[in-house]
This record gives sequence, C-alpha cells and structure tokens, in this order.
Amino acid sequence: MSLLLNRNIFGNPANKENVLTRKQAEELFTSWVLNARLQLHMKQVAQLMKSWAAEKELLDEAAQWRWEMAGLLHDADWDQWPDQHCKKIIEELENRNIDPEIIHAIASHGPLYFGVEPETNMDKMLFAFDELSGLVHAYSLMRPGGYETMDLKGVKKRLKEKSFAANVSRADIDDACKRAGILLDDLITFIIPRQAVVK
Ligand SMILES: [Fe+2]
Ligand SMILES: [Fe+2]
Repeated sequence: MSLLLNRNIFGNPANKENVLTRKQAEELFTSWVLNARLQLHMKQVAQLMKSWAAEKELLDEAAQWRWEMAGLLHDADWDQWPDQHCKKIIEELENRNIDPEIIHAIASHGPLYFGVEPETNMDKMLFAFDELSGLVHAYSLMRPGGYETMDLKGVKKRLKEKSFAANVSRADIDDACKRAGILLDDLITFIIPRQAVVK
C-alpha cells in the first residue's frame, strides 16, 4: 500500500478562491468522519489554521475560511478510507472545483507519506499544526486540569518522552518548524490557548 500521490499539481487555477460554504463543508465532514476523536482533531487543526491566518498572516475573512477549510477537511477520508488517505478528499475537492491552494495544502500535510512538498504558508502551517496539535491534546487528556494551567515547559517535557503519544512523529514536528521558519516554543505557545477552546 502506497500513500504516495505521485503528482504535484492539484486542482485547477481557474478555481482560485472557490470554496465550500461552511454548511457544505460541515455536511462533508459529518458524513465522511464518524469517529468523534478524529472529528475533534480536525476541528482543532481548523481552529489553529484560522487563528494563524487571522493573527499572523493578517488575512481577510474569506482567506481565513480557506485556511480553516484546509484544516477542517485535511483528514476527511482517514476514518472510512484510510488506504485512500488523502487521495479521496483531494479528488472530491477537485470534482467540486475548489481552490487549488486548499487542495495543495491537504496534499502536502505529510510530505514523507504523500510525496508532496509543502510550498505555501498554508501548506507549511497545516503540516506544522497537524502532529503537534495531537500531542498537545493527548497531554491535555492526562492532566487533571486539562488545558487550564498547561504550559510550554510541560509540553516540551512530553515531547522529549519518546513513549508519550509515541505515534506522534517528533522528526515531523522538527521538520515542519524548520520549513515554516518558526521556533518550536512559539508554535506550542500559539497552540495551547487556541486549541483549548475547541470542543
Ligand atoms: Fe492526515
Ligand atoms: Fe491530521
């Protein structure tokens, strides 16, 4: 089984800025993703993408939604069709004439697995948030206070423990920070409070 997408061009440039409405995206999300844990992960990544677009990239609301949509749908096919991840969601969005930028971001959220390099800031941030978000959430679940009182130091300690959330690739996290040109500490500090509000 290979997850390699074996291509580098996604979508059609004529579809620039085409998006699903929030309602359409939510319909796809709830019909494709039945697993509540995975749903939460995707919502968390969506929130982080939207927050980054607004606070760091200073993008307008339409662009913020494009970032959020990439986060919300990046694992849409993982629940029911893991052997087709992320080919199936990419094809779905291509058939629905969605902005190639969003599709490329989804296609490059695991460069080692899908063989597509993150190029844009949207690509790079989706890759950076994906694994780290999961580790921060796993940490929240083992703390009596959850996200409250969680700090950078605690997250970094867990990152160093290889047995903690062992499926989260530390190499991917380091790689993603380098590609995005951000410090790991800054990324963790950004994630904690913004992810805490996602239910
Ligand atoms: Fe994924
Ligand atoms: Fe993910």
